[in-house]
Amino acid sequence: MKTLVIVTHPSLDQSRANRALIDELSQHNNIDVHNLYEEYPNLDINIEKEQQLLSQYDRVVLQFPLFWYSTPPLLKKWFDEVLTYGWAYGTGGDKLQGKEFIVAVTAGGSEHNYRSTGHYEFTINEFLRPLEISIKYTGAVYLPAFVIYDTLEATDDQLKSEALKYAEHIRASADVLVENVKAS
Ligand SMILES: Cc1cc2nc3c(=O)[nH]c(=O)nc-3n(C[C@H](O)[C@H](O)[C@H](O)COP(=O)(O)O)c2cc1C
Repeated sequence: MKTLVIVTHPSLDQSRANRALIDELSQHNNIDVHNLYEEYPNLDINIEKEQQLLSQYDRVVLQFPLFWYSTPPLLKKWFDEVLTYGWAYGTGGDKLQGKEFIVAVTAGGSEHNYRSTGHYEFTINEFLRPLEISIKYTGAVYLPAFVIYDTLEATDDQLKSEALKYAEHIRASADVLVENVKAS
């Protein structure tokens, strides 16, 4: 399966978590990394190029650091501009149908705070709902997300070990990912 990983991080030069994930992916065949802020430093997205790129892959991973319980702004812009009527939805808009999407998010907060009784009141999956329904709206398949918590406290070794799990997650079949969620 050919996988495209779309990374949206405005300052990768200062990143530890997303950088560790990207470094691990560079060891794997059939996984291509596309860095939105590097490609579009002026935030001027080439819509046709993005659509062409998406059409070449069976699985797409959206990797980003959580910013204010949401995505960095360029990824929101990417959704608004690339997933157009007649292409991603609406009449003739079937180009993402059946493709598999995985969201991969790094969060500074701790897992125990991402629950109804915790400091942030909601789980990460609840914060990801707008992405989930947007992806489903296009007819694509939304697979279980990959999350790293506590990124600011994590040691380099812990990030490396998370990166290995990440590579496994995004290479796993849809059936395995769904089964793993049911079992957890
Ligand atoms: C503008 C901004 C907003 C942030 N908002 C959140 C947030 O809502 N929840 C959270 O857990 N972490 C938040 N963080 C922390 C980042 O998610 C964390 O720094 C990032 O995942 C670390 O990844 P990196 O090492 O690749 O930069 C925020 C950071 C910034 C800069």
